[in-house]
Amino acid sequence: MLFQDPEAFLAEIEEIAALGAKQLMPFWRALEPDQVSEKARNDLVSAADLASEEAIIGAIRTRFPDHSILSEEAGRSKPTDREPTWIIDPLDGTTNFVHGIPQFAISIGVAVKGRIDFGVILDPCKNDLFSAARGRGAKWNGMTCRISGRESLAGSLVATGFPFKAHRLLDPYLAIFREVFLRCKAIRRPGAAALDLAYTACGLFDGFFEFQLSAWDIAAGAILVEEAGGTITDMNGGMDYLESGNVVCGPPGVHRELLEVVSAHRESWERNLG
Ligand code: IPD
Ligand code: CA
Ligand code: CA
Repeated sequence: MLFQDPEAFLAEIEEIAALGAKQLMPFWRALEPDQVSEKARNDLVSAADLASEEAIIGAIRTRFPDHSILSEEAGRSKPTDREPTWIIDPLDGTTNFVHGIPQFAISIGVAVKGRIDFGVILDPCKNDLFSAARGRGAKWNGMTCRISGRESLAGSLVATGFPFKAHRLLDPYLAIFREVFLRCKAIRRPGAAALDLAYTACGLFDGFFEFQLSAWDIAAGAILVEEAGGTITDMNGGMDYLESGNVVCGPPGVHRELLEVVSAHRESWERNLG
């Protein structure tokens, strides 16, 4: 571990996430139409995303001027070759935020040599704080949290996200969805991947799968799931989920079964990846 006092560093990340939330919340259910725009079709960015990001990056620059930053709206800022790297989603769940739906979060992961060692996800609407440091477990509002005890898809509550930015994946995705749906109890699509991962880490969801996410959607949630005792992989069962954006996770038995379903459709989804 790079840091002598990981707990103190985690507390700093939590503080920085709270600075983002402070800028974000004045826009909550108060965004004007001209404060929202489309980066790509159906992919929104708002003044709230930008205000949160500015506060977060500003604080990192002041406190850790040598660290690298990868953030959704600002991209990669210099220095790019230094360790560690902060991987930031200043507002995960922008569509929910813009529509006044209270399911969104600030997500910050910190990676050292390609491995995420710290993760903080803050849901300012519900005052839920999820955090994890490698080897120190995962916490939900200060209490240790664990992955669900479920051993198979039967009876499980699974979360997912739709491939709304990659329509070519829709048919293979729907085939996977159908099979998972028929095997589990119910499926949810809450609309903020970072919270889907955090809820899976805390055992609220028994599993989660989604294609074509970005590193900032996944980074913090991945270490939460791992530290809570869960398994997280890409859709091939490997560890390239930050690069590929394809994620499947849950307690080991549920993860295994989800991966089995995904693998049965590999030929069709692989053919349709961007
Ligand atoms: C989105 C959310 C959503 C997921 C999308 C992400 P954003 O993030 O996490 O659940 O399905 O793929 O892009 O754009 O709201 O930060
Ligand atoms: Ca996101
Ligand atoms: Ca975002």
